[in-house]
Amino acid sequence: MTKQILPKEAYTSQEWLLQERKDLFSKTWSMAGLTSDFSETGDFITATIADNPIAIVQDSEGNLRAFHNLCRHRGTELLEGKGNAGKTLVCPYHRWTYGLDGALRGLPNKSECFPDLDRKGLSLMDAGVGIWKGIVFANPNPSQSFDEWISPMAGAEFPHDITDPSLIAGEEFVYKMKCNWKVFFENAIDGYHLAYLHENTLGGPLPALNEWQQHGQNLVWYSTERDGIRNRIPKFVQEQASKHSMATIKGAENPGYGGVYMMFPTTLITPSPWSLTISRMEPVDAETTLLRAQTWVTKSWFNYQDRLKDVPGYNPDTGMIESDCWTQHPLETGDFQTEDIWVCEKMQRSLTAPNYSVGPLAQGSGAEDMLPVFQETIRRYL
Ligand code: FES
Ligand SMILES: [Fe+2]
Repeated sequence: MTKQILPKEAYTSQEWLLQERKDLFSKTWSMAGLTSDFSETGDFITATIADNPIAIVQDSEGNLRAFHNLCRHRGTELLEGKGNAGKTLVCPYHRWTYGLDGALRGLPNKSECFPDLDRKGLSLMDAGVGIWKGIVFANPNPSQSFDEWISPMAGAEFPHDITDPSLIAGEEFVYKMKCNWKVFFENAIDGYHLAYLHENTLGGPLPALNEWQQHGQNLVWYSTERDGIRNRIPKFVQEQASKHSMATIKGAENPGYGGVYMMFPTTLITPSPWSLTISRMEPVDAETTLLRAQTWVTKSWFNYQDRLKDVPGYNPDTGMIESDCWTQHPLETGDFQTEDIWVCEKMQRSLTAPNYSVGPLAQGSGAEDMLPVFQETIRRYL
């Protein structure tokens, strides 16, 4: 029988999240940026992955290098935001200077202040970096293999190319969700609810016509409602969409790729014939998760960019989408994301009920089989 593996504390306790920060997020691949953030030597971005400040820099050979964004003198963050650092990385505090390869090049007043210092042992600390489909991933632990994580995706890639200039990225949507990141993740890989919670928005498919495939730690979803052909959108959505004329993305018209890519642990990609959305989860505390989503569409579908203010729950004061700002019942919004967040927040509230327990899970790769698969993956780290 398919069963829940993680205890409820995994979803509610701050200690669990602290352990996840240390033993899971500090050893796995998180999205840090896009290859389009880099074009010249010295271009850099920064990201924080589970308390690890990370800087990714384009070196003089055109390769991306990732470092812990910590000066080896007294640990100041070297770089801020994104930009171009020039030929060296200079700490603003006492001006220790590093090459783009991370080696400590120079420090002021060396002969008086550090007469015996050997620069060799004071290079910036390496982190891991890898590129897939125009997305830059980073791993605070440099000994983890990017290839091992990403190579099982071979053959399952979506055709969208976010570096293609005919696509434009909309503004970032930030959802503030009152739930543990795993509650959101598990909802995303639960194929059993699609026909019920989302009856009026996604309209299925039923579990037998859903398919979740494992690619190493990553999971890819397909609808098989149309003669078993692996499809990236539910049939119901395709029928609704055919009533509007929406510009398709070059190469993405035909089925054969997935509709949801759960890149363990925190990156979620949803390709469709008309768009590509890349989202990253940011666990804030045990019961709060930010979801940062950005969508690419063809240039001709320009109106898309105005959509943020129309999203249910948009709060103009914070710029975020929050359930406290919903003005109608989630099931009346016609927005499946709102329906999902509604259920995730309900689940999170239930988790603290004294009588909370999980019954049997629905069997089948298109039902709830992926929940214990995901939970097992987490267990291996903790
Ligand atoms: S902390 Fe960076 S130079 Fe002192
Ligand atoms: Fe859902």
